Amino acid sequence: MSHVLAAVAWPYANGPRHIGHVSGFGVPSDVFSRFMRMSGHDVLMVSGTDEHGTPIQVQADADGVKPRELADRYNRVIVEDLHGLGLSYDLFTRTTTTNHYAVVQDLFTGLHENGYIVAKTTLGAISPSTGRTLPDRYIEGTCPICRYESARGDQCDNCGNQLDPEQLIDPKSRINGETPKFVETEHFFLDLPAFAQALGKWLDTRDGWRPNVLKFSRNLLEDLQPRAITRDLEWGVPIPLDDWRDRTDKRIYVWFDAVIGYLSASIEWARRSGDPQAWRKWWTPGGGSRGYYFMGKDNIVFHSVIWPSLLLGYSGEGDRGGNAGALGALDLPTEVVSSEYLTMEGRKFSSSRKVVIYVRDFLERYDADALRYFIAAAGPESNDTDFTWSEFVRRNNDELVAGWGNLVNRSISMAAKNFGAIPEAVDLTDDDRALLEVARAGFATVGDLIGKHRQKAAIGEAMRVVAEANKYLSDQAPWKLKDEASKLRMGTILHVALQVVSDANTLLTPFLPHSAQKVHELLGGTGVHAPMPSIVEVDDLDGGPGYPVLTGDYSIGARWESVPLVAGTPLAAPKPVFRKLDPSVVEEELERLGS
Ligand code: MF3
Ligand code: ZN
Repeated sequence: MSHVLAAVAWPYANGPRHIGHVSGFGVPSDVFSRFMRMSGHDVLMVSGTDEHGTPIQVQADADGVKPRELADRYNRVIVEDLHGLGLSYDLFTRTTTTNHYAVVQDLFTGLHENGYIVAKTTLGAISPSTGRTLPDRYIEGTCPICRYESARGDQCDNCGNQLDPEQLIDPKSRINGETPKFVETEHFFLDLPAFAQALGKWLDTRDGWRPNVLKFSRNLLEDLQPRAITRDLEWGVPIPLDDWRDRTDKRIYVWFDAVIGYLSASIEWARRSGDPQAWRKWWTPGGGSRGYYFMGKDNIVFHSVIWPSLLLGYSGEGDRGGNAGALGALDLPTEVVSSEYLTMEGRKFSSSRKVVIYVRDFLERYDADALRYFIAAAGPESNDTDFTWSEFVRRNNDELVAGWGNLVNRSISMAAKNFGAIPEAVDLTDDDRALLEVARAGFATVGDLIGKHRQKAAIGEAMRVVAEANKYLSDQAPWKLKDEASKLRMGTILHVALQVVSDANTLLTPFLPHSAQKVHELLGGTGVHAPMPSIVEVDDLDGGPGYPVLTGDYSIGARWESVPLVAGTPLAAPKPVFRKLDPSVVEEELERLGS
């Protein structure tokens, strides 16, 4: 047993989540965590809503509310979205807690004391009409390098060059079209070049990463520049230095505070568990714990460069040396697991253009496991992938319902009808033994693939066990063995089939936890097979306003192993576990999409 941290990217609290958000890292991180727990590891799965910075400020301005009000609204909505999908967070919290502010400020202070944060004066853009700072990516103009006319202040999407907004020719605000004014402003910078060596050494010891992620990360090390970690903004974590902490116009940059969320959420979880030091088991270097970070590909730099740099600097391990801060030395990620993008019917997801399906709308019409199945079998694991309604309906009907659902249904109903219980197995044939062996071998194969973040292949292997069992039933045709003389053989076949249903159900549990619980009960099982998260209203630990969190007790579920069925366990006629979808669903949904 070892300690495994599952660190899941923090969704911005600026709107409800759509299925693109949850398919890259939401569901995959849950599959991984469930599997790791079933294998006996001590998993801590943490995340929360990302509530600071311009993404929140801009949406709040658009909605005419204060950023805090917007964050409160969507924190709750997102908690409900993730709960509906059965994502088993040990703690899903938010970045506006008093605890998070304190941990962020402690990291800032530690890095500053070790000399890794330095002040510099730069040019910043402000909007002449509002006096507010204009973030780089809200400025647009002509690229000085390739003359592309819609380059953004942070980069040109045409030639790919990084830009500073004052380099743009004829810069304009994307918010209201006015010409920004550039003024001198003082900011704090993280001295990234001081970590290049340590980061390089660390990356050299990483194996098992998806090759493109590793390559991308290595490339980033070639040109590291100091990076601003404060912003001219009122909304965010205050800068914890004398002369700065009381200023209302300067805040810590949202990405600096968000990545620290993994640590602050672990600490919050420990404080709520009654053992405030318990988080150290997942964070102290050299203790054998592993940390897996799940995210979309646009987040790689923050997890393979920025976050490790913060951890190194705080631990006193960059070029400037230093001492570990108050929390002690902190461990670097074991693996950065990044996914590609999901598109929707061939187009980019876009809330404004209504190319979107929100999680909550999806779950109103379809089951969580139907979506989880699609994501695992056909999600953007290592390629950009398209979600289409026709493919969703096809996979649901042909694979989930006609494959797995049918196996569950026909084996249990035949046994219930003819025996009223799990029948006895006597005199196993070679065919019986071969099928049992296929299922048993699945634990190693499927487990190994999930451990390597190859979930598409993993669920494919689990479904191969299902297909073999369906073939076995067709070949053995137990329904033909009705007379008294063959009833023993019929019972044996059904016992074998039910054992394989039970094994396949365990193999599918990380992917399909809701239906796995049902199948467990249909087989006469009691108690919790696949634990589910709950939404709990909590008080802020240090006197701030209360909020909802996702949490749960996941120590009680099934183990990653074959559990022998007990002959004589009563069985009742099963209710179908999955719902077949009418093909008209496709047209209906496309109409909703307005295409
Ligand atoms: N909110 C960011 C996004 O949606 C992700 C933040 S991940 C974090 O792109 F770990 F840094 F919080
Ligand atoms: Zn350009």
